[in-house]
Amino acid sequence: MTSSWFPFLSQFDLSPSSIATYSLAIGLPILYVLAKSFLAPSSPSHSQETEAQDTAKETLKKPLKPIMQPPSENLAPPKDDPYTPEELTKYDGKDGRPIYVAIKGTIFDVTRKADVYGPGKSYSIFAGKDGSKGLGMSSLKAEHAIADYSDLGETERKVLDDWYAFFSKRYNIIGRVVPSSSS
Ligand code: HEM
Repeated sequence: MTSSWFPFLSQFDLSPSSIATYSLAIGLPILYVLAKSFLAPSSPSHSQETEAQDTAKETLKKPLKPIMQPPSENLAPPKDDPYTPEELTKYDGKDGRPIYVAIKGTIFDVTRKADVYGPGKSYSIFAGKDGSKGLGMSSLKAEHAIADYSDLGETERKVLDDWYAFFSKRYNIIGRVVPSSSS
């Protein structure tokens, strides 16, 4: 019956044992290919990579044009002078004063980057204060530029720590924030 619908099938032996043999002959290579693609190690070895992947990797290896300033080569030894939050507010770059930014209580002198932290500039919200919470949240809102970052989540704390590392490599540490005197 089948062979009358598909005359070419008549040349095959369609007995059960032959069908089993055909299944093995066709099925095994398919299984092999499937197993190779699904069980391959998550970082494929170089020989399995395509030319396009190689080209993409080469492109990524080329240094990107830096947007952020590079780390500083000549940082001064860190100082440990105490500043209350009130004292710190003076260092906002107004009237030619220095600009200090505190992160997690450590005060950095960012005066040489007055172009971004100076009055009216993009990041002036962080000048003369500890705005740790805003840095962690990637927020420039005044209400977020506060020292208390206790309600930040894990990811935001990581962002904050990254900023701390960024500043540590670029700006001199000139002191630390201490509680306001209670007089
Ligand atoms: C559209 C959004 C933003 C763009 C296009 C942008 C762009 C930039 C660029 C180009 C720089 C390098 C500036 C320089 O070195 O002269 C920079 C640095 C910086 N950005 Fe942003 N930014 C954005 C949002 C933010 C936000 C929301 C924050 C809040 C935390 C932030 C915080 C900073 C800080 C702290 C620096 C480091 C400045 C330094 O000390 O060198 N940025 N940003």
